[in-house]
Amino acid sequence: MKATAIAPSNIALTKYWGKKDEELRLPENGSISMCLSNLLTTTTVEFSSKYEKDSVKINGEVEEGEESRVIEHLDRIRQLAKISLRAKVVSNNNFPSGTGLSSSASGFAALTLACAKAAGLNLSEKELSILARQGSGSACRSIPDGFVEWLDGKTSETSFAKTIFPESHWNIVDVVAIVSEQRKDIGSTKGMSEARSSLFMPVRVQSMRAKNKLLKKLIKERNFKEFGELIEAEALEFHSVVFTQIPPIIYWTPNTVKLMKLVQIWRKAGLDVYFTINTGQDIHLIIEQKNIDKLTKLLKQVPEIKEIIINYPGQGTRLTTKHLF
Ligand code: DP6
Repeated sequence: MKATAIAPSNIALTKYWGKKDEELRLPENGSISMCLSNLLTTTTVEFSSKYEKDSVKINGEVEEGEESRVIEHLDRIRQLAKISLRAKVVSNNNFPSGTGLSSSASGFAALTLACAKAAGLNLSEKELSILARQGSGSACRSIPDGFVEWLDGKTSETSFAKTIFPESHWNIVDVVAIVSEQRKDIGSTKGMSEARSSLFMPVRVQSMRAKNKLLKKLIKERNFKEFGELIEAEALEFHSVVFTQIPPIIYWTPNTVKLMKLVQIWRKAGLDVYFTINTGQDIHLIIEQKNIDKLTKLLKQVPEIKEIIINYPGQGTRLTTKHLF
């Protein structure tokens, strides 16, 4: 059986960094995100007796490291479906991988739905989110639509993501500014395995519950200024943990910092725009829809920016009949 799914990447408005259970991918804290309408992974999975072994192609290439993680995920689903058939997996992203745009979130979300369907399983959104989480933590937040919360559960059954507001709730825009397509040296999984070595981590974990509660209130009230201030401060707090881990990691490049400085200058000049950054050099600029033209005009004047991708709050993971093979 063959199935194809399309999944969005998501931007963490509060970040997941550090696991209380590495194996199950249970995070140190809950997090809140928004699905991104234009950063998409499409994945086709076919289980068949004609395949002697699993094969995985991502963006036209077989990626060794990723492949084993994908195969582990196939095994999880085979076990659930009680099948032993081998699979062919083909997956394409419409955006650069490994630059901080969360291709593992969209990748494992698309893989989870396509794989479950191809294996004949009919899973609920919660079950899909729990499964996706075990492939890559942030992938659990790409399953539901719109604005999403990954609940801070203590067990696998209670650690899943759900919609807190639909995508139509708020007209905000995430403009991704790509400053380089170079892949980061240290992926998130490896990076966050040392989170606890930062002196700041215990303080951070203690404050996350209150921060997530406040963020939900600000999204509910559509209070853009306080929302923007909170998510920008959160991104800087998260990177402060990353800088102070042992060994420290610096994901930013000079162009990332240039953009951060420009955001501050533009804000002083009256444009309400905020940034957030994950593990990579590319930066997300968050703005209200009414100001998008002003921002894109400014961004066109920054020669370091290679490309921008405009995203609205988006749908979660869904099936399509347009198979990749
Ligand atoms: C900085 O979900 O990629 O983007 O569970 O090990 O696959 P693994 O990590 P991953 O980490 C994402 C980290 C982040 C913050 C976030 O998306 O919440």
